[in-house]
Amino acid sequence: MSESEHIILTDVCKEYRARKGAVQALQSVSLESRKNEFIVIKGPSGSGKSTLLLMLGAMLKPSGGSVVINGTNIYSLNIRDRAAFRADNIGFVFQMFHLISYLNVLENVLLAAWKNGSPGESESKAQSLLEKLGLENRVDHTPGELSAGERQRVAIARAMMNNPTLILADEPTGNLDQENAKEVITHLKDFRDSGGTVMMVTHGDVCDDIADRTLFLKDGLLIEDQLARSKVNG
Ligand SMILES: Nc1ncnc2c1ncn2[C@@H]1O[C@H](COP(=O)(O)OP(=O)(O)OP(=O)(O)O)[C@@H](O)[C@H]1O
Ligand SMILES: [Mg+2]
Repeated sequence: MSESEHIILTDVCKEYRARKGAVQALQSVSLESRKNEFIVIKGPSGSGKSTLLLMLGAMLKPSGGSVVINGTNIYSLNIRDRAAFRADNIGFVFQMFHLISYLNVLENVLLAAWKNGSPGESESKAQSLLEKLGLENRVDHTPGELSAGERQRVAIARAMMNNPTLILADEPTGNLDQENAKEVITHLKDFRDSGGTVMMVTHGDVCDDIADRTLFLKDGLLIEDQLARSKVNG
């Protein structure tokens, strides 16, 4: 991982223009990630957590401020280049999994294949990710034939398909029992340990032990928990 592989948010704000007036979802958020960090974001409903992740995911333009990921100011790119940047650098995991119900597990993971070479190479990459996630016996199942934990592991394989440097996870354990939640966190932690950065929104305490930093959002303002244990060197 090079020095430029991290996230810098500078004075990011977001105002949604709703029919009945504007909503200030984020007010001047600044944040810098360190190398391969697992950052957890907590906060009450409506505090701006998903808004923040969407902006980090190159999917929602801030009303002000800048989002720089791996040295690229992502909202200065045109839509096409931003889509390419997103596919190349970022993996997503959602609370509701968002798998395609009529595609099987392997096809769902392959759907994310961006430019990993030939179809054969993509397929062997998807197969090896699924094996790593303990899903080698489920490749031709559809999502409806899987447990919730298995579905989320498919989503993690999909998120990792393009070797991202950043995984954004919005309540990835929200629909899982404690055991499956822990397994999902373990996979995200492995991704961090192999050099990636994780930004995860959660209400729970399932990753309190392994988070490098915990940030709190309240009314669109970011508060860094001074007491949060930091395992990051430098
Ligand atoms: N498209 C939109 N138009 C108008 N207002 C919006 C829009 N999306 C979100 N908001 C508002 O912005 C604020 C932040 O929303 P956001 O979804 O980021 O909250 P959150 O912290 O993720 O909440 P939750 O924990 O319930 O998922 C909320 O007050 C919400 O009503
Ligand atoms: Mg949300």
